[in-house]
Amino acid sequence: INLVVLFGGQSSEHEVSCVSATTVIENIDSNNYKVIPVGITKEGKWLLYEGKDLTELKSGEWINKSKPAFISPDASEKALYIIEKNSYKKEQIDVVFPVLHGMFGEDGTIQGLLELAKIPYVGCGVFTSSASMDKHYTKIVVDQLGIDQAKHITISKYDLNEMENIIEQIEGKLVYPMFIKPSNAGSSVGISKAKNREELVEGIRKAAVHDRKIIIEEGIIGREIECAVLGGISPKASGLGEVVAAAEFYDYDAKYNNNESKTIINPELPKVVADEIRKNAVQIFTALDGYGLSRVDFFVEKDTNRIIFNEINTLPGFTSISMYPMLWEEKGISKKELIDKLIQLGIK
Ligand code: DAL
Ligand code: MG
Repeated sequence: INLVVLFGGQSSEHEVSCVSATTVIENIDSNNYKVIPVGITKEGKWLLYEGKDLTELKSGEWINKSKPAFISPDASEKALYIIEKNSYKKEQIDVVFPVLHGMFGEDGTIQGLLELAKIPYVGCGVFTSSASMDKHYTKIVVDQLGIDQAKHITISKYDLNEMENIIEQIEGKLVYPMFIKPSNAGSSVGISKAKNREELVEGIRKAAVHDRKIIIEEGIIGREIECAVLGGISPKASGLGEVVAAAEFYDYDAKYNNNESKTIINPELPKVVADEIRKNAVQIFTALDGYGLSRVDFFVEKDTNRIIFNEINTLPGFTSISMYPMLWEEKGISKKELIDKLIQLGIK
């Protein structure tokens, strides 16, 4: 089976994707699959990696050992076109594993290309990917389920011209501290916390660099609890994991550069709360028409134990310290088995 693993990508999570892809490739059974690693540079150039040393994915050295290659949307070909000197060669593709995070990878765009090309792929489809990447729309869907979320307001970048007005509206509805987030972004990039008006204005400007739509949420005091979902027609929830952040909130640096951040598998929680979170995770995944995999993130409010939905990641991190694979390992599913299951779900 010819399996293209897509990695890198144009989003702010390019580096994370390279690390995730390393873990994925290391755990693919080479008896069943021929791995064809295709990296996408930050500029959006597609390159077939011809080296063998997977550490080159993380170091960026892979770019120097690659040839231009791309997947055509032509549905009659189902092929990777590899550009050689003055000509090209074609390699048949059976399935694609997009190990990409964030914009142009997790947001339905790559999924759209693969739909056009009629090539099976791992994970959620176009609609689920884009609706899950857009925090504003995810909130609308989750609201329908009656699952609690942080109080929030969505504003547009164009509202920035009337900053004073906007600030007044926000302060009328939400209390500090607040979190400011681009509606479409992953791995906490462009997110900030505001304890006062000055920080709120600055946070909005910062988020506006990343997206046209900006979400302002009331801060939740509680624990960050995550649940993995896996499957097709009847998806299953894993056990739970807790993120204990080293920084003030689980920002990009705390996630990937700070060893003090910890993940705890099976954190102490009342059984009713844990069961409810697992149920909510599957409900949200299903409401968004999820397929294959997702990690659904919640808060459990301090003192009340109220469950509050935070976000869904349709292509969660797959690094060696990532929650998604760890949650399944705890259930007795090794990384190898998990990746094989995901690919098989994609082929079906
Ligand atoms: N967006 C990162 C990769 C995650 O959610 O794990
Ligand atoms: Mg998250």
